[in-house]
Amino acid sequence: MSNTFTMIGGEGPNSYQQHSKYQGALLEAAKEKINEAISTKLDIHLTSNLVNIADFGCSTGPNTFAAVQTIVDAVEHKYQKDIEFQVFFNDSSSNDFNTLFKILPPARKYYATGVPGSFFGRVLPKNIFHVGVSSYSLHFVSKIPNEVKDRDSPVWNMDIHCTGFSKKVANLYLDQYKIDVGSFLNARAQEIVSGGLLLLLGSCLPNGVQMSDTVIGMMIDFIGSSLNEIAKQGLTDQENLKLPIYLAHADELKRIIEENRCFTTEVFEIISHAKGEYPLDPEYLTKTFKVTIGGSVASPFGQDVMEKTYELVKKKTQEMLPQIAKAEPGMQYPIVFRKI
Ligand SMILES: C[S@@+](CC[C@H](N)C(=O)[O-])C[C@H]1O[C@@H](n2cnc3c(N)ncnc32)[C@H](O)[C@@H]1O
Repeated sequence: MSNTFTMIGGEGPNSYQQHSKYQGALLEAAKEKINEAISTKLDIHLTSNLVNIADFGCSTGPNTFAAVQTIVDAVEHKYQKDIEFQVFFNDSSSNDFNTLFKILPPARKYYATGVPGSFFGRVLPKNIFHVGVSSYSLHFVSKIPNEVKDRDSPVWNMDIHCTGFSKKVANLYLDQYKIDVGSFLNARAQEIVSGGLLLLLGSCLPNGVQMSDTVIGMMIDFIGSSLNEIAKQGLTDQENLKLPIYLAHADELKRIIEENRCFTTEVFEIISHAKGEYPLDPEYLTKTFKVTIGGSVASPFGQDVMEKTYELVKKKTQEMLPQIAKAEPGMQYPIVFRKI
């Protein structure tokens, strides 16, 4: 089964494009930090008046446009001269690049290029970009650990994900996550110019908090148990679906980024999400997780199973609202790296 994990494309009511406000709010909350980092930490020699920006895991918009615009404005403000901008929009080749290009902001001040390919490897030439960003995209692992998938292994996980119930399963995901973040940073280190900045934004878990006690973990569990029910009706083989996601604990993330030798860490902060935690609204919650995780349910099992699954997810979300209300809050971070 493919680990391709793309958001639901298009511009329809079930698209990522229409339901990515939660992710977008983190960019908004981190805007001041990004402006400050570009103003004080970006240290590039502009030999020509061209600045290259790259977004790794751009999806279909509109958040990628907001991230790019923030960078463009901050770079213009810093250098106070006429600069031409080139933007590389990277995502997996199964991303809906057609929608991305269709809705590019008409008044943009940059040239746009699509860069398909996995960001765990090189996707750009050496020394090409000056400022890079990756928002809500580095929660993915490149593959599900073999032992977790193997029915005969003692750590076989029949559920779709590690939500904290088995330390051994979570550790295997963590091992893979470390390898993948390392590969991501090594690839970016070759593509970015010296003195350039790489901005990472996303969610992590507070130390000691299990994923299953957070809203994200609970929603993933509802998806898993809904798929189990559908499997009992003979419609799908749920045990084959595993999500290639790992939410690191804050300390794990800190250790992983400290281990890299290519970048200095200029900012690593936990910030308050402008939207707070997820709203207690079953419709909103179901839609948000449908547009992100729905694609990976639909691709092996088909659209019908995906719709049935999410009807059940919505029902469970409704029933479990009191438990969701008591969920442990997650954490959101901006990280700013500078290339040595
Ligand atoms: C939750 S979306 C975030 C989109 C956007 N950056 C935002 O902030 O709204 C995560 C994106 O990462 C992309 N992605 C996941 N793994 C990837 C990989 N290995 N290489 C490139 N893109 C990847 C997915 O296709 C998806 O579009």
